[in-house]
Amino acid sequence: MEKKVTVVGAGNVGATAAQRLAEKELCDVVLIDIIEGVPQGKALDLSEAAPIEKHDAHLVGSNDYEASAGSDIVIITAGIPRKPGMSRDDLISTNAGIIKSVTQQIVKYSPDTILIIVSNPLDAMCHVAYETSGFPKNRVMGMAGVLDSARFRAFISMELNVSVENTHAFVLGGHGDTMVPLPRYSTVAGIPITELMPKERIDALVERTANGGAEIVSLLKTGSAYYAPSAAAVEMAEAILKDKKKILPCAAYLEGEYGINDLFIGVPVKLGSKGIEQIIEIELTADEKAKLLKSAEAVQGLKDTLKRLGV
Ligand code: APR
Repeated sequence: MEKKVTVVGAGNVGATAAQRLAEKELCDVVLIDIIEGVPQGKALDLSEAAPIEKHDAHLVGSNDYEASAGSDIVIITAGIPRKPGMSRDDLISTNAGIIKSVTQQIVKYSPDTILIIVSNPLDAMCHVAYETSGFPKNRVMGMAGVLDSARFRAFISMELNVSVENTHAFVLGGHGDTMVPLPRYSTVAGIPITELMPKERIDALVERTANGGAEIVSLLKTGSAYYAPSAAAVEMAEAILKDKKKILPCAAYLEGEYGINDLFIGVPVKLGSKGIEQIIEIELTADEKAKLLKSAEAVQGLKDTLKRLGV
């Protein structure tokens, strides 16, 4: 295929992302992992599904970053996932070291690539990748808002018994308990949900969205969500590969937008072939703004922890 995407981490999120990329025939896929045999085995298994799934994407698995050379996009999912009782923030010291070493290897072989970070705690891991890569801010982003918005949309559709295709939702802020779902900007066929549901029901859906990741962790027990996270990362990759200029909520490096400086946090951005081509500032009420700033404080706390850890 014309385009090449590397997925680092051949675990649940990474392998499922590789499957989605190939089955949508978006690009050739390189799967990289630290464990010998796993990326090779999963890439081969996915290649053997290709005749049935009817795609011509080439899949390669490797433990060596040379295979990733010249990637248009690199999706980083390497790291450890949550177990029940853990918050995303509990992963910080282990995953920061992993993201740093992965980014160094990626940059060596694909200096012009675009990085989509998935590993948690998301906003902090974006910082590690941004600082380690030295890339311009348009080429480093995190996947969180697309997932959180999809969860909110799924819950809206279940509540109102309408097609998910009719739903639209925006969730801003950090990927954690302080995320900021925006009911005013969340619609069903263009109608704000504030006109379709009583406030108590909206509050309940907002709360379920904020705890969406933990709800899955408590059910799975041995790991965290991966079908929706991989779908969200692939939606971002598709927007970039096809230069769609699609507006999606993503973790982006802010320099004054929304009154936030020097932090990665979830905001609406325009995704095209250059990566983040525009950060979109939407009007927020005083209450929404206060919630976003509180979320930014939580991300700043993680950034301070990284400093303490010396990453
Ligand atoms: N280099 C490459 N791969 C690595 C490295 C490394 N340094 N360290 C770990 N990995 C690989 C593991 O070997 C494993 O195959 O990352 C993979 C992670 O897969 P899972 O354990 O299945 O975790 P997953 O559910 O995919 O989540 C990965 O995404 O959603 C986030 O919070 C989640 O941070 C977690 C990440």
